[in-house]
Amino acid sequence: MKIVLASDHGGYQLKESVKAALAAQGHEIADLGTDSEASVDYPIYGKAAAEYVASGKAERGIVFCGTGIGISIAANKVHGIRCAVAMDDECVRLASAHNHANMLAIGGRFVDVEDALRYIDIWLATPWDGGRHDNRTAMLDDM
Ligand code: RB5
Repeated sequence: MKIVLASDHGGYQLKESVKAALAAQGHEIADLGTDSEASVDYPIYGKAAAEYVASGKAERGIVFCGTGIGISIAANKVHGIRCAVAMDDECVRLASAHNHANMLAIGGRFVDVEDALRYIDIWLATPWDGGRHDNRTAMLDDM
């Protein structure tokens, strides 16, 4: 699967670890930065990754900042993006099953690599339930 990654400085180290693991699993990765722990502004990176997904250049996007919150807010400003903050296995499963999340946001200062990779596995493996959720995600996409 083609997956785009982006982070600010707070998520940089986790992004690098996740990038290596996903590439080893055979995913095609686009990395939009940042490229170091020097301070940058997370809205720039969240927007860039979200536009990459919204335009169809990647099927999914994963973004990282210190908490996952700021960069998820940025990503969700882009039309067609449904970005969920990953904090728990069941919430990640429901983000796919109910919210049809096409992006995941992870906090590099709160989530270790092992948990991050498990969240991503669950997110990618869980199909969308559709059905009663179809109208709700359509309402999100109309906003
Ligand atoms: C940067 O210090 C930090 O505010 C950012 O990574 C993120 O946590 C914002 O939501």
